[in-house]
Amino acid sequence: MSPFKLSYFGMYLCLFLLDVYWQTVAGQLSYSISEEVNPGTPVGNIAKDLNLNSQELESRMFQIVTGSKRQFFEVNLKTGVLYVSDRIDREELCSEELKCPVSVEAVINNPLKLYRIDVEILDVNDNAPLFTTKLQNLYIAESTLPGVKFELSEATDADMGKNGVSTYKLSQNENFSLAVHKAGDRVSAELVLEKALDRENQAVITMTLTAVDGGTPPKSGTSFHIYISICFIFKMFTCANLIISIIWTALWCVYVAVHGAGVGILV
Ligand SMILES: *[C@@H]1O[C@H](CO)[C@@H](O)[C@H](O)[C@H]1NC(C)=O
Repeated sequence: MSPFKLSYFGMYLCLFLLDVYWQTVAGQLSYSISEEVNPGTPVGNIAKDLNLNSQELESRMFQIVTGSKRQFFEVNLKTGVLYVSDRIDREELCSEELKCPVSVEAVINNPLKLYRIDVEILDVNDNAPLFTTKLQNLYIAESTLPGVKFELSEATDADMGKNGVSTYKLSQNENFSLAVHKAGDRVSAELVLEKALDRENQAVITMTLTAVDGGTPPKSGTSFHIYISICFIFKMFTCANLIISIIWTALWCVYVAVHGAGVGILV
């Protein structure tokens, strides 16, 4: 082979690779589909979007190739429609990720071309908010002043963005209200004492807290019970800079609250 012919061949190879590369990039399609749609749901018409004649698909052996074990999409070779072939659970595929793209490749022969198809899986509100515990015990001293806040357990939701936890609802109660805080993706709630408690009137208050997500329609999670024992402090003293109060609760047990350390120990 003469040097001239070799460079000619090299140039040809270069052009061929460039052409393949260009074809790959040019043949890139983007679609989006909601998770949990029924198998058979169309995603888009590949033949139309790639300017291919749908009659050619079968004869040129058009096929989908996926790198992953599960194949979520198939193509109808008569019509060129890309459709969902398996159940897609966004939470299982992408868990906490905000975006959930699934890529598949498709090939066609004569001439050989490779296409890349990106399908964005959209979140639907298929999960309700969930509390990890069913009950929260709070010991509140009778002498507590209105305005004092008590942190409540947080709910979590497997769905993302607006389908995640959006607010909390407290069952009707004249002495407490709810303060809902939003920080980024996290939504938490605090119980606010509105009116002074009276242990002689009622020693135990029970309330329920419900977490609601922002989906349409919204889903409310399992209820969460708040069990409040109103305590009477009969002795309070300071020890090593900690305020220790011996509290007589409604349960007739002695509750030692170490305020400085923010912990309470039931004895
Ligand atoms: C709620 O607040 C009112 C007004 O302070 C009081 O009379 C009532 O006893 C309180 N309820 C309980 C359960 O402590």
